[in-house]
Amino acid sequence: MKTRTLGTLTVSELGFGTMSFADMYGAAPDHAENIRTIRGAHDLGVTLFDTAEAYGPWANEELVGEALAPVRDEVVIATKFGWNIDPDTGERRPGLNSRPEHIARVADAMLKRLGTDHIDLLYQHRVDPDVPIEDVAGAVKELIAAGKVGHFGLSEAGAETIRRAHAVQPVAAIQSEYSLWTRDPEPEVLPLCEELGIGFVPWSPLGAGFLTGKVSAETIGTGDFRAASPRFQPAAMEANQRVVDLIKAIAAEKSATAAQVALAWLLARKPFIVPIFGTRRLARVEENLGAADVTLAADDLARIETALQTITIEGARLPEAVLQLSYR
Ligand SMILES: NC(=O)c1ccc[n+]([C@@H]2O[C@H](COP(=O)([O-])OP(=O)(O)OC[C@H]3O[C@@H](n4cnc5c(N)ncnc54)[C@H](OP(=O)(O)O)[C@@H]3O)[C@@H](O)[C@H]2O)c1
Repeated sequence: MKTRTLGTLTVSELGFGTMSFADMYGAAPDHAENIRTIRGAHDLGVTLFDTAEAYGPWANEELVGEALAPVRDEVVIATKFGWNIDPDTGERRPGLNSRPEHIARVADAMLKRLGTDHIDLLYQHRVDPDVPIEDVAGAVKELIAAGKVGHFGLSEAGAETIRRAHAVQPVAAIQSEYSLWTRDPEPEVLPLCEELGIGFVPWSPLGAGFLTGKVSAETIGTGDFRAASPRFQPAAMEANQRVVDLIKAIAAEKSATAAQVALAWLLARKPFIVPIFGTRRLARVEENLGAADVTLAADDLARIETALQTITIEGARLPEAVLQLSYR
């Protein structure tokens, strides 16, 4: 697979997000199958794997560490700190925690869970309004100096915060939601990434599955976080079908799937963009990687843009309480 760079970190142009193995979309398959799927993604050429302390919590990092142990030197492991998770019990407490001493302790625990001596890319999961971003960047800088961390990233951060963090410790990647139906990073964050040489990693690049055309009210089962998402309420899904119809029409022309077109659109936006899709099925990993072979020419992109301008997406991308934590 072709590579792209996030700051100075080289990764496959499509990365694999492993959050859904932590049952976020309902129950994941069994442990052995999950290991096979993650290893299978590497066999297919993926070198960027994304996890977080909060997925599980902890269990997802353990899974990723175990799955990638045989190929540790060939892959980039990205993980994230920042939710207020008790370091002794793993209990999730309200709010965020990016205090420097907490970051240092969490990083050591991550290394153990991942079974590695270094984290290639360490993100702050959400900006903590109680801790100046300079202190967070300083804490990660110390981890980098100690050889425990390779590169620094921020997730869902606002432009001014990114600039301040970057002045203390160069930021390799910003990870925020970005896709055909969520374009919040376009006005400020993407231009800033371009200016500062920072990579951009779109999460939920398939719109948490919606943009593949395979999601309906019936497919959202127990324990699926989308049940609480405004965009996945039945009326919103019906209204938002227009964007799926658009993607499907382009897919038909390209002999591609809707998932491939959604990812190809992101790849075509900027050369420093590396989408991380998520799936619990190896066949879909293979399908999604096929996006790299789908070419959207300038006139395709212009047509998509014109059509998107006529579509209003119904429903907020996240529940209000979670949304408030973004772009600070
Ligand atoms: N920084 C943050 O705050 C943040 C937030 C959310 C996610 N993330 C990261 O981003 C990664 C990706 O997010 P995501 O998992 O929400 O992204 P996504 O790729 O937009 O959506 C995943 C959903 O799409 C379905 N899917 C995947 N490929 C498909 C295909 N070819 N056809 C039909 N359905 C398909 C999956 O179902 P199946 O599993 O059934 O295939 C799953 O329900 C996460 O794993 C995580 O690492 C970060």
